[in-house]
Amino acid sequence: MATREICDRIYSVGTIDWDLRYFDAIMPTPRGSSYNAYLVKGSKKTALIDTCKPNDEADFITNLMHLEQHVLDYIVVDHAEQDHSGLLPLLLEVYPCAKIVTNEICKDLLLAMHHLEEAEERFITIGDKETLSLGDKTLKFHLTPWVHWPDTMFTEVVEDRILFTTDFLGTHYAAPALYQDDENPDYLEAAKRYYAAIMMPFQSSVQKHLELIDEIGPKIIGPSHGPLLKMPAKIFDLYRDWSDDNPKNLVIVAYVSMHGSTELMTKFLVDELVQREVPVQQYNLLETDTGVLGSAIVDAATIIVATPTILFGPHPVAVNAAYLIRALRPKVKHLGVIGSYGWGTNAVNYLGEVLAPLGAEMLDSVYIKGHPDDEAIKALHAMADAIEQRHKML
Ligand code: FEO
Repeated sequence: MATREICDRIYSVGTIDWDLRYFDAIMPTPRGSSYNAYLVKGSKKTALIDTCKPNDEADFITNLMHLEQHVLDYIVVDHAEQDHSGLLPLLLEVYPCAKIVTNEICKDLLLAMHHLEEAEERFITIGDKETLSLGDKTLKFHLTPWVHWPDTMFTEVVEDRILFTTDFLGTHYAAPALYQDDENPDYLEAAKRYYAAIMMPFQSSVQKHLELIDEIGPKIIGPSHGPLLKMPAKIFDLYRDWSDDNPKNLVIVAYVSMHGSTELMTKFLVDELVQREVPVQQYNLLETDTGVLGSAIVDAATIIVATPTILFGPHPVAVNAAYLIRALRPKVKHLGVIGSYGWGTNAVNYLGEVLAPLGAEMLDSVYIKGHPDDEAIKALHAMADAIEQRHKML
């Protein structure tokens, strides 16, 4: 990615990966991603804000050389995860006089990840709201744990009202434009996928740090992935909506079926909800990637997992989905399990235990032997009634 000037002597110098199709080996990234880093040239000192992943070293160094950056005073590390700190060891060699500026938690993680013991004296550790002068530009650091790791911090360029927010408000979205296009549905879809996979587990921290950004009042936000945001930005309001405590009137039914019984039960339950005018979305887990499922559960008040029994337990695809739902910690209020078995099963108990940490109400399960009969249909009818009743109270 070419370097771009954001404003006077502040540049975007990161890299772009158009071909990235999975992030963290779990989240599909159909639109690729970028690893943003920023160069801030003050009248006396120059600071690099973050680096990028190790594989991009040639592009990254080329970007810095393009700006004739032969000396660097500071490398600010806002977050230790390797997609942002990956080039730190190399840059410490390229810029032997550069100091590493970060917080105590991030320093500890960097030392462990990159074995930087020999460079320990090059660390400058800062606390919340501390500042660092670059001459006519001032960096101010805001400790913002848990968006995404405990080490996360924001770096503000006070005079230019730019705030670098590392993963927060980012998007896995490779784009030629420097800034977001709030009207682009592809960008907004990618933003929701990203929120679901990376920020949703830390909902209360998201709310807290949105408030902090309101207080700081930046004109421009530079995240570490995807386009920069010109404030006011639509994604900022979407984050408020996604991270509040109130789920929407929406049911997600995620199913897998072997011989058709569970699929039939799924279709019947979904039809019953449609007839009751309860908004519902049905997902076949064999054809649904984790990004789509993650996005779908952001707003849902009720999630139903539908699975057959295989070797006494739930189908592994359903286990995987339930585990993902638990890990992403959506604000769901009601959960349910439906499906069918042959000679024996512990599927309901198993999935109940996986989902229990979410603290949502477990609806009466509908788990039947063999093909659905009149009793099963009646039970699914009752489940649809129970969901409708609860959604009327949202
Ligand atoms: Fe983009 Fe938490 O790293």
